[in-house]
Amino acid sequence: MRSVRIGLLGFGQVGAAVARAAGAAQERVRARGLDLVVICALVRDARRPRDLDADAPPLTDAVDTFLSRAYDVVVEVLGGTEPARALVTRALDRGVPVVTANKSLVAAHGAELRALAARRGTSLRYEASALAGVPFIDTLARRPLVADVSRLSGIVNGTSHYVVTAMEAERLPFAEALERARRLGYAEPDPSADVGGRDAAEKLALIGAHVGAPGLSPSAIETTGIDTLEPGDLAAARRLGGAVKPIVFAALEPAGITAFVGPAFVDARHPLAGLEGCANGLRLEGRYVGDLFYSGPGAGPDVTAATILDDVVETMTATGGWAGAATPASGPPCRPPDTAWLARLDFPGDVPDETSLAEFLGAYGVWIRRADGEARGRVRRFLTSRASRARLEGALAAIGAASGAETRAIRVLEA
Ligand SMILES: NC(=O)c1ccc[n+]([C@@H]2O[C@H](COP(=O)([O-])OP(=O)(O)OC[C@H]3O[C@@H](n4cnc5c(N)ncnc54)[C@H](OP(=O)(O)O)[C@@H]3O)[C@@H](O)[C@H]2O)c1
Repeated sequence: MRSVRIGLLGFGQVGAAVARAAGAAQERVRARGLDLVVICALVRDARRPRDLDADAPPLTDAVDTFLSRAYDVVVEVLGGTEPARALVTRALDRGVPVVTANKSLVAAHGAELRALAARRGTSLRYEASALAGVPFIDTLARRPLVADVSRLSGIVNGTSHYVVTAMEAERLPFAEALERARRLGYAEPDPSADVGGRDAAEKLALIGAHVGAPGLSPSAIETTGIDTLEPGDLAAARRLGGAVKPIVFAALEPAGITAFVGPAFVDARHPLAGLEGCANGLRLEGRYVGDLFYSGPGAGPDVTAATILDDVVETMTATGGWAGAATPASGPPCRPPDTAWLARLDFPGDVPDETSLAEFLGAYGVWIRRADGEARGRVRRFLTSRASRARLEGALAAIGAASGAETRAIRVLEA
């Protein structure tokens, strides 16, 4: 039996779950000839009172004390980019393999950390950093033909998905649905990264690095939040033959990458349209895989801890680390795609009839493909033809200027 000494960077929700799971999973792990022991955990404040299990590892807030121990694997669950980057760099530099669940770290520094790991003959794994309960990064990292992807679409943020599902199921306004998510523990006290799309953009950049889009910067991806959605948008989407979901999308074409992050109308035939609640999903379409769909839990301390420990077992038993594409000197050009749109027009006074509306928009190169037939009052919603954001916004601005209508639009993800 080989004893595996684990150093835990962080002992919050996930860190504590890793320590618990390391004990609980012993039987299954021992079958692989390994005995997992968490020997030390680094926290911000070791004196803060905590409700610790009897077999919790010793905690320290002194980095030097943490680093003075010898580890077979370091598990990083601090969150954020610093000091996570500096501490992971120090571990890898000493040849100690690292497992992390930190998507911010991997999105910003994954390529340089993978390269350092390769130089030191060790490894960096981060299966839990995106779709935490769905193992798929290992497959992409090890299998270049599976990873030959031309289009990916996904739901990668459980908080946003829960909020959108609650808005639709109970016709709750955004703020109330978010408050419920907070109460149930599905949203953090500061949910801005989740509902604003930054978390999803980081995960898209991270996944992109394994499917032919290395160096994609989250800040280069068109990102919109779910906070402008109304329950009526979600009901209209169903009538129009789809659902609104918080989507990440990227298409990798010879001419470059197109990508977006934000709420989108998803055609009912798309597998993401059938997911509900906090579920995450990822569809990969490629030359060799055809059409591959993963789905499952995206977060939760226990499932995240299990994925982390599977990474630890992989680290100790598999040969070699994950192949990472070299990062280009500057990130690849990334522009938003031309898509169809689900538009909402809220008129302050008289509502134009459908023909006049269609003619007006058509003059700006935007065509109504299907209108929500159950429109009531002064709001009109419809699906448009494919158009660039600039063209769509030009048409909506013109109708707003002519009628005083308030306008909004979200993208359409086709099946
Ligand atoms: N929660 C989930 O379900 C989930 C799922 C997938 C991935 N993740 C990722 O896992 C990571 C950890 O998440 P979490 O929910 O466990 O976070 P958390 O509960 O906030 O825990 C963070 C831990 O890191 C410690 N820490 C933070 N900054 C530190 C610093 N500067 N120096 C020393 N220690 C520091 C904290 O110390 P104190 O205890 O003293 O505050 C705490 O123990 C994040 O990257 C997150 O995105 C989480």
